[in-house]
Amino acid sequence: MNPTTAAHDPLLAWREEFPTVETTLHFASHTLGAMPRGVEDALRRYALLWRTRGIRAWEDEWFRLPMETAGVLASILAAEPGTVTMFENVTTAQSVALSGVDFAGPRDRLVCTAEDFPSVLYLYEGLARRGAEVVRVQAKPAPGTPAGVAPRHIEVADLVAAIDERTAVVALSHVLFRTAELLDLEPVVRRAHECGALVLVDAYQSVGTVPVEVAALDLDLVTGGSVKWLCGGPGAGWLYVSPRLRDRFEPAVTGWFAHAEPFVFDPGPIRRDPGARRFYTGTTSVVAYAAARPGYEIVARIGVPAIREKSLRQTGRMIALADEYGFRVASPRVPECRGGTVCLDLPHAAEVCQALLAGDVLLDHRPGVGLRLAPHFYTSDDEVEQVMRRVREEVRRLER
Ligand SMILES: Cc1ncc(COP(=O)(O)O)c(C=O)c1O
Repeated sequence: MNPTTAAHDPLLAWREEFPTVETTLHFASHTLGAMPRGVEDALRRYALLWRTRGIRAWEDEWFRLPMETAGVLASILAAEPGTVTMFENVTTAQSVALSGVDFAGPRDRLVCTAEDFPSVLYLYEGLARRGAEVVRVQAKPAPGTPAGVAPRHIEVADLVAAIDERTAVVALSHVLFRTAELLDLEPVVRRAHECGALVLVDAYQSVGTVPVEVAALDLDLVTGGSVKWLCGGPGAGWLYVSPRLRDRFEPAVTGWFAHAEPFVFDPGPIRRDPGARRFYTGTTSVVAYAAARPGYEIVARIGVPAIREKSLRQTGRMIALADEYGFRVASPRVPECRGGTVCLDLPHAAEVCQALLAGDVLLDHRPGVGLRLAPHFYTSDDEVEQVMRRVREEVRRLER
């Protein structure tokens, strides 16, 4: 795909680690990041160990591997070692986290937003059975949204106003999955902590493209996954629990891998591991965590601030081109309010998306916001120009 600007863009040196970006215009890292070359070696190693070492694979590597993979994440999150636990996905990680919250007393509210990812919204709905009152902060139209377009903007002031002494947890996305709006966490955390509430952040759409320093932000619980910006593939979600909370946090959803000595087969009550293993459930998904690690290691080595700087430059250019081509931009224009994705609300977005996917362009679309396109650290400036031209050609073709 001819990355002509490698000399001016040191991050392009990483392209050779991602074979897919050489054969596609890869603009889908908000939904499925490119596969690092190292994943094939990691999976071969996993199979070899299983084949040659059998049950001994656990002691050789498999017991340690999930914690080591979580350790790489902890460095990306600027978190203390031993504060991150791997899970299958965000939904599971959040259900474990929320099973540690008591909604039965006077502090019975969970405050979230209508723009959180549906999977966690379904989970929050279910909490009503445990006595929780779920307060959903509704979206408003972003400035400049045309009449008839569904509102998608979350006003942080509305979220702050919804938090009070009855709030047990404030659960919110850091970057909204539809529009890539980046929410300012600081006032939310301040208000939540003033009221004695916990903050649970779904950082799936930020970690790996927007710097997230969990300790500096004073977050209590953070979840994320690996499919997107971390280039880690499916099956590897994670939960951060702040050191302040960790020792007194007792999720009801638990299992034998959380026990300090699982192989004692103690019938309970559970005596938890002192470290991050204390939040495990059952047998860990070793293969998914082996596959996730090469992507994490690359992101950790590059450093998210450098990824963010490049992302803002390239998404800014995409917005400028969208204006030139007359496309409505459905993601925030203000850089500080935007994650790594640009949404183009075009007529026939679904058809444009299908036509481009049938060729060599990787992207997706969502109802109401149109095409979603994301450059990442492996994207060249040429490719940004190319993908926008390809979208324009497809729109013109469909309009004819
Ligand atoms: C913000 C956000 N949260 C959660 C999810 C899904 O989480 P999982 O499938 O890991 O439960 C997604 C996307 O797939 C997302 O964009």
